Amino acid sequence: MAAATVGPEGRVFGIDMTDDMLALANTAKKKVTAKLGFDNLEFRKGFLEEIPLEDNIADVVISNCVINLSPDKRATYHEIIRVLKPGGRLVVSDVVSDGPVEVAIKNDEQFRGECLGGALQQLHLVNMLKNCGFTAVRLLKRFPYRRVSHTDFFSLTYEAIKPAAKETKTGIYRGPFAGIILDDGRVILKGQTAEFSGPDDASIFLVDADGKVANIDMGQSCCGIKPETTAIMPMMGIKKGR
Ligand SMILES: C[S@@+](CC[C@H](N)C(=O)[O-])C[C@H]1O[C@@H](n2cnc3c(N)ncnc32)[C@H](O)[C@@H]1O
Repeated sequence: MAAATVGPEGRVFGIDMTDDMLALANTAKKKVTAKLGFDNLEFRKGFLEEIPLEDNIADVVISNCVINLSPDKRATYHEIIRVLKPGGRLVVSDVVSDGPVEVAIKNDEQFRGECLGGALQQLHLVNMLKNCGFTAVRLLKRFPYRRVSHTDFFSLTYEAIKPAAKETKTGIYRGPFAGIILDDGRVILKGQTAEFSGPDDASIFLVDADGKVANIDMGQSCCGIKPETTAIMPMMGIKKGR
């Protein structure tokens, strides 16, 4: 699917640590490339914690139910951010929990293999992504997956962006909440004009130098833009004495 999406001008690298999975992938590759009529696919052996790719090579990194298996997720996210181009994004589907995962689940070989033992708590995942340098972390999909004794597990799809060169845009937070906290820690209240960086979001009016909303089609309103008017100050007389 990735090979078809990026087309003949793009490239797709698949990374796995096991010979069995690489053999399976290379067998499937023959059918895929024959069907597509071009070959833009390469599978490399390696660890997530030491990705065999050069810096700043990828526009997108995708992963389906793998990162929970990594024994050092922080190293994995640092590696992903290293191989992403500035402005590139990570889109991952993986297993998370809401609360702490019991030690008995974490240490059970079968539960680890079933992607439960290594699952992160959702809030810890978001903070880890931020600490590793990602921005604009967004939760895209969430489904109930399994309950094991007292722990609920969910399948979560999330997106995170490697920051590009710092470019800020002027905007106004529209709501519906009372305010938002930006990744740099600033609290922006609803209706407040501030400088924003990162991807555009429909909850923010991005405004140009004239104050015109630039990111959302505004359609019609009761008033359009009128020519500039000079304010008229009434003459003030000065009374002398009483
Ligand atoms: C659940 S399977 C992935 C399934 C696949 N993404 C799919 O959608 O069909 C997990 C894969 O991750 C690989 N894997 C697990 N930990 C890894 C690590 N630290 N580095 C590289 N590969 C790893 C395993 O070898 C295995 O092939």
